Parts: sequence; C-alpha cells; structure tokens
Amino acid sequence: MRTTPTMLLLSSFLFAVIFALPATTHVARPNVQMDATQIIANIKLPSTPTIKKALKFARANMNDHTYNHVLRSWLTAQASLSHLPTSVQDGVDTEVLAVSAILHDLGWSNNSALISPTTRFEVNGADVAREFLKREGKGNWSERRIQLVWDAIALHTTRDINLYKEREVWLTSVGIVAELVGPEVAIETYGGERVAVKQEEWDGIAAVFPRKGLRDFFNGVMIGLCASKPDTTYQNFVGDYGDRYLANYSTEGKKTIDFLNANMLE
Ligand SMILES: *[C@@H]1O[C@H](CO)[C@@H](O)[C@H](O)[C@H]1NC(C)=O
Ligand SMILES: *[C@@H]1O[C@H](CO)[C@@H](O)[C@H](O)[C@H]1NC(C)=O
Ligand SMILES: *[C@@H]1O[C@H](CO)[C@@H](O)[C@H](O)[C@H]1NC(C)=O
Repeated sequence: MRTTPTMLLLSSFLFAVIFALPATTHVARPNVQMDATQIIANIKLPSTPTIKKALKFARANMNDHTYNHVLRSWLTAQASLSHLPTSVQDGVDTEVLAVSAILHDLGWSNNSALISPTTRFEVNGADVAREFLKREGKGNWSERRIQLVWDAIALHTTRDINLYKEREVWLTSVGIVAELVGPEVAIETYGGERVAVKQEEWDGIAAVFPRKGLRDFFNGVMIGLCASKPDTTYQNFVGDYGDRYLANYSTEGKKTIDFLNANMLE
C-alpha cells in the first residue's frame, strides 16, 4: 500500500471536493472514499487512511483465524458488489463497508481489554468499532457514517433485520455469510440480487487468506462465548452452541417466552 504521486494528487483533489460540500450534509458520502485503490486477490478495493488504520487495528487485536475471516468477508463483499447492477452500486459508501467488514468480529478479540462481559459479541464489536472511528477517523466520519458501521456490525448475524437496512448494512452481512458458506449457498440464502461473488473469486480470496480449520475454530468461539458470558447468549443463535456442546449450559428457562410467561400482566 505505497502512496504514489498520482494517488496523492487524486486524494488532495478529493479532499478539496469533500471540503467544498456543505458541512451540514448528513447523507453517506458518495464514493469519495475511492481516492485510492488496492488490489488483493485480484479484487479491487478502496484504500483510505481509515481503512489502513482499521486493517492495522484488526491485525493487532485478532488471532489469525479471525483476521483471515474478516479480510475474506471484506473482499467477498466488495467482489460481490462489483458485479451487482450500477443501481445497487451507485452511492454505496465503500469505506463504511470496508471498515464494517474488517472490524466486525472485534467481539472475538484476543485482546481481553476489548471484550465486554455484558454485551453479545456483535454489539461488543460494534461498540469497539465506534470508539475506534471516533478516535481515529476525526474529520471524515460523521455521526451518520459511524452509526452505519455500528448497525452493520451489530446486525451482521441478523439477516431478517439487516436485509431491510441500508445497503452498507446488508452488504456487510452478505460478505460475511458468503465467505462462510460459499457463493452458491449464499445466493440461495440472500438471493442473486444481493450476492454476486463468483466461485473463482471466492477461491482466490481463500488462497490469500487461508480458511483451513475454520469450522472448528468458529464452533470453539461460540462455545467459548457460552462458557464465558452466558447471559449474552440465551437470546440469540450463540446459545444453540451451548445447548449442543456444553454439559453445564442450558437456555431452558432463559428464553423470551419464559420471561413473558412468567412476568406478563393480564
Ligand atoms: C480524510 O480523507 C481524506 C481523503 O481520503 C484523507 O486525505 C485524509 O487523510 C482523511 N483524514 C483522516 C483523519 O482520516
Ligand atoms: C492477537 O493475535 C495477533 C496475531 O497472532 C497478534 O499479532 C497480537 O499481538 C495478538 N494480540 C493480543 C492482544 O494478544
Ligand atoms: C461450564 O464449564 C466451562 C468449562 O467446561 C466453564 O468455563 C463455564 O464457566 C461453565 N459455565 C457455566 C454456565 O457454569
């Protein structure tokens, strides 16, 4: 990711464009973040100061499996987007998409200082990403864009909500799920109007960021969450791992139905 004179010229031009905009604008910036691009695994990706910092932050706070997974998720999301109709692509904030995908599993961090004992892992990750952007993204990150990143991360496992949110939000989820299950199943799950990554691209991404052992690793993370912060797992899919694999764990009596049956007033 070396800076060339052309990139510098381009970015100062775009910098001028950004600052010519009215300061009160609250909409997501249309593609101004494409001030520079990089190619990884033959996928064309945006490159910005915040994306570079997010990559560094992820590398410093995630083990190899998690880091490879978030990188594959970003590349898969961006590759998929590049094949969708321009009506979908136009105006997508690809810097928001990048940061959301890269930081989406900070709730699995190997840095215990980032782990919240009281929030489910998606919210934990969203909160850490928001703090990161407030700290590192000064100037370019409106409340609105930070909120989009928070939503994309907090909702990345909740397809039946994220599909009805902003494109950056469902594209993050598409990238993550397509990276986990492959293009074919992802298309069956999300529909071809949302997923368009090609099998060759998916294979090429996996060659650069290896996935061997991913399923066991993933199961271990889910089981670990059930063991270490069970109260955050009863209301979501993570609890299913505890029920299935942990002898001393059960969602029985902890579900919403139990709460409502016990407490709802006539
Ligand atoms: C804001 O974005 C511009 C253009 O991408 C970049 O030159 C600048 O360094 C960014 N500022 C920060 C604080 O990230
Ligand atoms: C997390 O893992 C990565 C990769 O192994 C390592 O570089 C980093 O130092 C680790 N962070 C902590 C806080 O242990
Ligand atoms: C269940 O056992 C695991 C170790 O196997 C332990 O880490 C965890 O705290 C226990 N969980 C509960 C809910 O008692």
